[in-house]
Amino acid sequence: MAAAPERTSPARVVVLVSGSGTNLQALLDAVAEGGAAYGAEVVAVGADRDGIEGLRRAERAGVPTFVCRVRDFATRAEWDAALAGAVAAHRPDLVVSAGFMKIVGTAFLAAFGDRTINTHPALLPSFPGAHGVRDALAHGVRVTGCTVHFMDAGVDSGPIIAQEAVAIREADDEAALHERIKDVERRLLVDVVGRLARDGYRIEGRKVHIP
Ligand code: GAR
Repeated sequence: MAAAPERTSPARVVVLVSGSGTNLQALLDAVAEGGAAYGAEVVAVGADRDGIEGLRRAERAGVPTFVCRVRDFATRAEWDAALAGAVAAHRPDLVVSAGFMKIVGTAFLAAFGDRTINTHPALLPSFPGAHGVRDALAHGVRVTGCTVHFMDAGVDSGPIIAQEAVAIREADDEAALHERIKDVERRLLVDVVGRLARDGYRIEGRKVHIP
């Protein structure tokens, strides 16, 4: 990966969600509150399932939505190509996977790999995958956190943009810890998207440079 492609101003952001969408909401709020100074706008929200709060948040904000369900396609590759097409229709400068619980494939990565970021509720490379909070608790680590990174073909393995630590408390269960991580994660994601949008970036190997 090299320099990011030319971008528009404000940067056009497509957000992908699978659930409650509180990270999406943080981005929508940052756009609403920050105006042009924030440097990005959410032009569409996509999901892999219907009926989720993430889609309702987009609708309430007047942002177009689309749904691309794996089960509507004969193969995973066809789903991946359809998802890439649905995202491409909105001409994004950045794609944000914010609780999108699917691994994208080669078609999606060929189109958007250099401009898709993911947020994960653990300090990568520790505890990748769908249960980052649960796995950290089960391992007995004393500090976990969240990571915002570029997406690649692996599971939560792409170049890291930003991380922040969260201490684990004696009384924590998965839900309580995840809520504390998400408080930090939302702020970190809003900050990263704004910086990438305003300042641009370069990816060199595993290093992400934001001027
Ligand atoms: C976030 O904590 C995000 O990091 C996590 O799902 C949550 C979504 O919350 N994603 C993953 O675990 C992906 N491996 P939200 O729907 O309230 O934004």
